[in-house]
Amino acid sequence: MTTTAGRTAELLGLFPPGSRVDADGELMVGGCRLADLAAEWGTPLYVIDEAGVRGHVRRFRRALSAAWPRSRMVFASKAFPSTPMYRLMAEEGIGVDVAGPGELAMALAGGVDPALIVMHGNAKTTAELQQALNAGVGLIVIDNSDDIDRLDELGAAGQRVLIRVLPGVRPDTYEAVATGQAGSKFGLPLPAARAAIERVRGGKLQLDGLHLHIGSQILSAEPYTRAVEAVAGLGEFGTYNLGGGLGVRYTYADAPPSPEEWTGTLGAAARRCLPPGAQLLIEPGRSLVAPFGVTVYRVVSVKGEDPRFVAVDGGMADNMEVALYGQRFEATLASRVGGGHPVELVGRHCESGDRLISGVALRDPRPGDLLAMPVTGAYCGTMANNYNGALRPPVVFASGGQARLAVRRETLGDLMSRDIPPT
Ligand code: LLP
Repeated sequence: MTTTAGRTAELLGLFPPGSRVDADGELMVGGCRLADLAAEWGTPLYVIDEAGVRGHVRRFRRALSAAWPRSRMVFASKAFPSTPMYRLMAEEGIGVDVAGPGELAMALAGGVDPALIVMHGNAKTTAELQQALNAGVGLIVIDNSDDIDRLDELGAAGQRVLIRVLPGVRPDTYEAVATGQAGSKFGLPLPAARAAIERVRGGKLQLDGLHLHIGSQILSAEPYTRAVEAVAGLGEFGTYNLGGGLGVRYTYADAPPSPEEWTGTLGAAARRCLPPGAQLLIEPGRSLVAPFGVTVYRVVSVKGEDPRFVAVDGGMADNMEVALYGQRFEATLASRVGGGHPVELVGRHCESGDRLISGVALRDPRPGDLLAMPVTGAYCGTMANNYNGALRPPVVFASGGQARLAVRRETLGDLMSRDIPPT
């Protein structure tokens, strides 16, 4: 598609399904004009298409149970940890994985059934494990032998656990988020996993099975097959948690497997390698939320010709994906969608690495314009920070033309609330 209309359609295809341009040329997400949402809640603003997330959770559940009927999914909540999102997942009837006491507390506050919580961490303290036991967390994932020592000390008899296995599989993704390869800090390599299995079987914990998670933003299902094959030799277990990691389409060239393709590959590998009666768990994070989030910024300044810098009122404080991993995004002005000429889209923070998108086409950008960046529903809010005193943005859930504030903007009071005044 090389026509202007074709390129605009391609761009809209990166936004949540149903996003469109209204008769006035304004971009709408979840049936709401981004301009209206920005007028009400300011910028930068994270907008989440709530119905989109719910629909996608349901699609994943259907795909998973078609691929492997004895199965369940949990949301890897690190992708979007806030009580409204935990509540949404609980309402959809799925569990969550938590990686630490903060996520555990938010999950409980959001109404997640503790029995459906999976607790992770490669450095769980005794206090954290005690909190998980007190909460009645369904599954604790053992990452190392210290976890076993601590659970034994805590007298956690009968606690259901999985052992995280390092399958020795390196998926094609960013170095920082590849976790399945030899040398990763996560889980136990096969020989150590064998020893841990024997040890747990000889003790009072209840070993339900194995866990593996090979990485994040993985755009091919193939490495999962190798990972399942690698753990199959460890014996037969009742449960296999195959982790998350399914990648999403951030930009035009990305072509991730669909939920059906991904779960289909997992199911096929399980049919070949795992016991037929086993339960399969998956724990997607990014793929459940990223495509349904849009960040709305306001253009603050436009300068120069070559390069032409367009600077917005956010940046690496609300989106670390670019600075940390070099993730490519796309964007458009909210009231002049598509078209235009390439610019350097930069943030407002004090370093040159605060560049949101290099060479993104914008149509005649001017100070005051709203800019919409799609596929920011995962990990952007999670890793938002206060660099340069930035106030973390609010989150608005938008669906069917209705919008509601899910998380308010941080205030200057919040920013200084931990500082102790002079006595
Ligand atoms: N399960 C475990 C044990 C994990 O560690 C993770 C993610 C997931 C599931 C979910 O993976 P997902 O489906 O979201 O790819 N900070 C990085 C992402 C790190 C992911 C860490 N673990 C980012 O901003 O892209």
